[in-house]
Amino acid sequence: MENILIIGAAGQIGSELTLTLREKYGKENVFATDIKELPRDIRESGPTEMLDILDDKRLIHFVIRHKITQIYHLAAVLSGNAEKIPLQAWRINMDSLFNVLETARLVEDVKRVFWPSSIAVFGATTPKVNTPQMTIMEPNTVYGISKQAGERWCEYYFRKFGVDVRSIRYPGLISYKTEAGGGTTDYAVEIFYEAIKNERYECFLKPDTRLPMMFMPDAIDATISLMELDASKMSIRSSYNVGGMSFTPEELAAEIKKHIPSFEITYKPDFRQAIADSWPQTIDDSVARANDGWTHKYDLAKMVEIMIQEIRKKFKKDNVGY
Ligand code: NAD
Ligand code: SER
Repeated sequence: MENILIIGAAGQIGSELTLTLREKYGKENVFATDIKELPRDIRESGPTEMLDILDDKRLIHFVIRHKITQIYHLAAVLSGNAEKIPLQAWRINMDSLFNVLETARLVEDVKRVFWPSSIAVFGATTPKVNTPQMTIMEPNTVYGISKQAGERWCEYYFRKFGVDVRSIRYPGLISYKTEAGGGTTDYAVEIFYEAIKNERYECFLKPDTRLPMMFMPDAIDATISLMELDASKMSIRSSYNVGGMSFTPEELAAEIKKHIPSFEITYKPDFRQAIADSWPQTIDDSVARANDGWTHKYDLAKMVEIMIQEIRKKFKKDNVGY
């Protein structure tokens, strides 16, 4: 039997991953934790607790008390926010990872850890098109540097101590349940809310900024497939490239316009443009696909259709008539 701890369960990924894991492993066996209030459906469907990942003593006690066998560590400061508080972001991103890796090393019951990396590990000198699994990596953002260092430490803990930590370099993730958490790819979530509410959106990236993206159901599927993979099949112990789709703000706006013809987009690039300019445009994820046969299911058109449908439903449920 698995007992699973999710750290950062109130966030964009955690708020959806928790529910999928509860369906799969049993509601009582998936512990959702965060420092902010968890969404109602998570509070009502299984155990929850306020847990600050920077409190290493409480973390280890929690893990021992609940006989935790798997940890999903999702708490982090994302790229845009990290540039505003560089040293705090570095401390939160790195200390939290060390607390989890050390807990997994010390507590025998913990068999597996998931920690997400990001396309932010790449930098301006990385080949931008079809970015390979192994290539030049010179990130120049606090977030990217913390993710790259994190990858090296994950591999180190596996080789040195046998900690079975697994990781994916997520591209920008698009979802409708929870707002995005302060990253550079957030425009691709915000745009839907503004298109439905106001029929206009001012984008903080230039129209032709191409970035790799993925719809949340594909990200969750990739994550759980990786965590269920037999350890002997793991060929990468830093972090796997995964890709789904790749588009520019202009292309996304054109797709939204097919559903909301009056929608207009304008552009006012801010500091996040430089971050986006340093990231890949498309990702070569053939290593991950060969590893466990995972494949993405959603393209731009399908994702846009579902996002609009679901956000409209959400507004209707909240009695907001858009
Ligand atoms: P998010 O910001 O939406 O959620 C993170 C959650 O962590 C928040 O609910 C926050 O309250 C919580 N948290 C922050 N500090 C904490 C602490 N000290 N203790 C406990 N919880 C704390 O982020 P997300 O988008 O869900 O991302 C999750 C992970 O995936 C992060 O590591 C992020 O870097 C990575 N990732 C996300 C994306 C994306 O597009 N969303 C892309 C690449 C990588
Ligand atoms: N979506 C994330 C960000 O923009 C990528 O890691 O920060």
